[in-house]
Amino acid sequence: MSNNQNSAGDDKTTGHVWDDDLQDFANQPPKWWMLGLTASALWVVIYWLMYPAVPISITGTHFKGIGLPGSGQWTAIKELAEDQKVLDNVRGKYEDKLKGLTPAAILADQELSEYVVRSARVLFSDNCAACHGQNGVGTVQKGKFSMRERGLMAPILNDDDWLYGGTIGTIQETITGGRQGMMVAHKDTLSAQQIDDVAHYVKAFVEEGKDKADNDPAVAAGMKVFMESDCTACHGTDAHGMQAMGSANLTDKIWRFDSSIEGIKHTITYGVNSGDPEARVAIMPNFGTSGKLSETQIKKLAVYVYKLGGGQPE
Ligand code: HEC
Ligand code: HEC
Repeated sequence: MSNNQNSAGDDKTTGHVWDDDLQDFANQPPKWWMLGLTASALWVVIYWLMYPAVPISITGTHFKGIGLPGSGQWTAIKELAEDQKVLDNVRGKYEDKLKGLTPAAILADQELSEYVVRSARVLFSDNCAACHGQNGVGTVQKGKFSMRERGLMAPILNDDDWLYGGTIGTIQETITGGRQGMMVAHKDTLSAQQIDDVAHYVKAFVEEGKDKADNDPAVAAGMKVFMESDCTACHGTDAHGMQAMGSANLTDKIWRFDSSIEGIKHTITYGVNSGDPEARVAIMPNFGTSGKLSETQIKKLAVYVYKLGGGQPE
């Protein structure tokens, strides 16, 4: 197309010509580009010498690098420790404050309690979630080895139903000292018929409400057992339970253990933490006196559990 055979002017070409007028120039790249290329090649060598870049060695240990000016040989662990230090400085001002405060005072401080909840989330996952479920939602599992069937299920913590109480002080006490509700076995003190009767009476609380159950002739025999044996001593005549001993409220719809008639009979027959091999087991480990968690960690967890949704004012 073009007739200009000298389009390359004085510039050198490679001599290749395509399509009559397409030629390859043989120019040097710009100087700045060549400098950049040389500098990066040099940098590769310097970088390679500074850092532990060669995984094998004839001397028995890998090449550790000659290190960085001022801070010596680089290792991932050193870098982590330095990052951690920066993080600790941020946390430090909160952590110092926490030491001198009660959980109630922490709750009253918006900024501090936000920090505490964030930092306690990990503590809860590590120490509590195995039994209480992530975020305290419980571990209701179906199947042969479910915690509920074995009676090991720990209570749900994000509701406002409390065995021992949901004030911040009580929660702190629970985590510090652990809890172990105790219900005696009744296999030697009540007949099978009495156990069956009282189980139907308890079941009727939930199905019809306690007031109706009290006047329901179908469960009158069970009511007599409840009132005349030892049930009221721990669960109260109103069957609401007593937080001082963690005896369950039997009139709410919240069940710790199997709520079928067979399940309720099992609880009454063998008890809870009664020492009977068939007993329901419900043990909240102690985290304070055992030294598993520090006082500050327990304060954080108390605030966290309180804020899961069911916390009650003092
Ligand atoms: C080995 C299982 C287990 C672990 C781990 C565990 N708990 Fe518990 N927790 C229980 C059981 C079981 C109960 C109920 C005790 C009872 O019935 O007497 C309970 C009860 C509680 C209660 C009282 C609830 C109420 O209704 O009054 C709180 C609060 C609590 N746990 C918080 C925690 C926190 C926080 C942690 C972690 C630091 C934790 N638990 C770790 C099993 C566990
Ligand atoms: C020594 C005190 C004590 C006596 C006596 C007692 N209980 Fe209990 N009972 C408890 C405690 C404590 C719990 C809760 C255990 C837990 O959740 O950790 C409980 C739990 C229960 C539960 C299970 C509730 C659930 O949520 O699964 C039933 C049902 C029950 N009791 C019925 C009875 C009946 C009926 C009697 C009388 C025959 C009786 N109890 C006598 C202390 C007692």
